[in-house]
Amino acid sequence: MAEDQSEAAWAALMALAARPGAAEIRPLFAADPDRFARFSRQAGDILLDFSKTAISDAVLDALLKLAEARDVTGFRARLFAGAAVNETEGRAALHMALRAEAGDAFRAGHEDIMPEVLAVRARMEAFARALHEGRILTANSERFTDVLNIGIGGSDLGPAMVGRALWTEGAPLRAHYLANVDGHAFDEIAARLDPTRTLVLVASKTFTTQETIANAALARDWLRAALGEAGASQHMAALSTNLAATAAFGILPERVFGFRDWVGGRFSVWSAIGLSLALTLGWDAFARLLAGARVMDQHFQAAPLAENLPVLLTLVEVWHVNGLAYPSRAVLPYDERLARLPAHLQQLEMESLGKRVVLSGAPLARASGPVVFGEPGTNAQHSFMQLLHQGTTPVPVDFILVARPDHTHADSHRKLLANGLAQAEALLMGKDDAAVIAEMHKAGAAEAEITRLLPHRVFPGDRPSVTMLLPQLDAFTLGQLVALYEHKVAVLGALWGINPFDQWGVELGKQLASVILPEISAGAAQEPHDGSTAGLIGKLATLWPEGRA
Ligand code: F6P
Repeated sequence: MAEDQSEAAWAALMALAARPGAAEIRPLFAADPDRFARFSRQAGDILLDFSKTAISDAVLDALLKLAEARDVTGFRARLFAGAAVNETEGRAALHMALRAEAGDAFRAGHEDIMPEVLAVRARMEAFARALHEGRILTANSERFTDVLNIGIGGSDLGPAMVGRALWTEGAPLRAHYLANVDGHAFDEIAARLDPTRTLVLVASKTFTTQETIANAALARDWLRAALGEAGASQHMAALSTNLAATAAFGILPERVFGFRDWVGGRFSVWSAIGLSLALTLGWDAFARLLAGARVMDQHFQAAPLAENLPVLLTLVEVWHVNGLAYPSRAVLPYDERLARLPAHLQQLEMESLGKRVVLSGAPLARASGPVVFGEPGTNAQHSFMQLLHQGTTPVPVDFILVARPDHTHADSHRKLLANGLAQAEALLMGKDDAAVIAEMHKAGAAEAEITRLLPHRVFPGDRPSVTMLLPQLDAFTLGQLVALYEHKVAVLGALWGINPFDQWGVELGKQLASVILPEISAGAAQEPHDGSTAGLIGKLATLWPEGRA
């Protein structure tokens, strides 16, 4: 019955999407002077404007009916109650507990998880404060100056993104992030760091990730060469759920900061994985980040669906992906400090929503997660925006604007904001034949020239975007923004009926890499491979004979 209801809700939505003109946005503005006010919502510090989409009252109504039919409120309740919503791994998804406060109730199944959350947080705070106050010193009894976080995926992207956004001169320590298992990356970082003043954090939920463990071993050797074995151990800490593996690696137990399997990698910046932020930005900034996320958690949990920012952002995505069959989305923060946000969201969304079967294992009847990409504006305007304005398939955009800058160059900031608003308006309004002809006439172009160039100079318009406007960028507002996207991902999972919390799709490549690694050492394929892979393994052996081990 519930399945019938949700299929009926999908059918009603798709019927609206199939109507002639369903993708048109300009007529909606023309018909409704209040459209901006009626199709934007505020929660905490974030204004979400989704008026520049083809979502009409009827479409929004159909989307909300779909959310009801898919029991988004029930899913939300089970998520916060610590039910095993990650069904394929039999786990809860309780990253919200990591930003909760004493007195907030979170249980994973029957276990009250708050005492452990608060205990780890207190250890992180004590460690950060001891480092900042010089009570924990280097092996040579000096102050630490730099923190090197070694991790990949969620153990890198979230902290690196927040660190990039919030670090300023005068912060307690400098932050560095090493992810790739590429000796060039290690050499580049090692060359600019002094091992005698650097604290190395090995960030890995599983502590089995090949890239991270390889880089951690290089860093351990690098520290040992400078400080000896005992000294090196004073310069290392681990952020992990796998306490046996951190011990086997030689990390002192008091330098291990744990978390639990109900924290997914891409949702883990709030956990011990965020220690690099507490150390390099200061504890108060990290605490404000958590507090901001908690504001969004409370909004998501309490607000009715029609007022709920994560739900509305989800519904916009469903309209674009399923209704209008737009297969990708761009994230354009008009703030250089958010340069790594698109990469973080790329993992958060594509690793969560790149799924093709529903929870029962049956094939998904419709498209799921889009390709997500992005760059800060205005840089993006001089790179891929051409395709967004005049390419064959519309690419919806998330514009992220920050009203007040933290610098004194007001003219630069006015230009930045003007460009962000202009791109969204250009996508929406386009430029029709008459406008191009008038413009070319004014510039004195000949008729033949106008005829020849007209199709090239026209912009179709009706290309959708949402705008998220923040009053300023700080730890509190950034926490809200990142949590907004996290909840969006969870709700999309519920609407599509997929599990947004697993990532089985990353496993096959890891398995095959472990087969190919010894073959590269041997200089020849030994196991059966496709012809191309076997050929390339042989070719590599001739181009890099020293690679044999
Ligand atoms: O790429 C797969 C993945 O498992 C991600 O989900 C995760 O964020 C990343 O690898 C790192 O994993 P870990 O923290 O266990 O090293």
